[in-house]
Amino acid sequence: MTNSKGRLYGIGVGPGDPELLTLKAYRLLKSASVVAYQSADDRPSVARSIVASYLNDRQIEVPFHFPRALDPYQAKPLYDKAVIPIADHLAAGHDVVVLCEGDPLFYGSFMYLFTRFAHQYETEVVPGVSSPMACASAIGIPLSYRNDIFSVLPATLSSEVLATQLVNADAAAIIKLSRHFAKVRDVLQKLGLMTRARYIERATMAEQRIVALDEVDADRVPYFSMILVPSNVQL
Ligand SMILES: C[S@@+](CC[C@H](N)C(=O)[O-])C[C@H]1O[C@@H](n2cnc3c(N)ncnc32)[C@H](O)[C@@H]1O
Repeated sequence: MTNSKGRLYGIGVGPGDPELLTLKAYRLLKSASVVAYQSADDRPSVARSIVASYLNDRQIEVPFHFPRALDPYQAKPLYDKAVIPIADHLAAGHDVVVLCEGDPLFYGSFMYLFTRFAHQYETEVVPGVSSPMACASAIGIPLSYRNDIFSVLPATLSSEVLATQLVNADAAAIIKLSRHFAKVRDVLQKLGLMTRARYIERATMAEQRIVALDEVDADRVPYFSMILVPSNVQL
């Protein structure tokens, strides 16, 4: 039995390729006794699948689930409840390593743990290779130059907001496509951006797919996909 509190680590495991893990994340993962990750009942954890070959059966695994796209006021009590198993481990003095797809602090669910625990427990965040960078490398096109404004736009925004933001950006990543794909494609068409924009699905994963926007079936767009609009500058 120990009196000291556990430490919380949020480690970025990158966009999919298990080799895109930092040495620091790898070291923490290999030495972790408790490994936590976001996992819905009906879907296995993507972050866990990325590092599955580095885990061992002596590690305690703690799945947790934050439902997506809830009104923040409705979400708060559910999120408070979801983190209880992790709180129990930390209070018992166990370090907890939380696996985060991409980077933990870039639209990552780790942020809900960070805001709840960082003031109580020693917390360390290990950055990860983030999906816009992985997608730019996958399509092999320079993303932003010099003083370019690079915008990250959730596809959940309205057509009007997307159009305004795209007009004001030199380069952009449009994330969280799924059922919003058709709306986004329509906006890109109206702005004359169809030839510049690229669609990338599951970048760096075994199932990576890059196709022209007009070849994408809008009814089969996975969550792990994005559209990049690279800079127009060519130097
Ligand atoms: C909640 S955000 C998480 C971002 C993540 N923390 C990161 O640093 O990349 C999820 C969105 O990131 C994008 N994304 C994450 N991984 C991806 C991948 N391997 N390929 C394409 N898009 C990805 C998708 O647009 C997805 O809807």
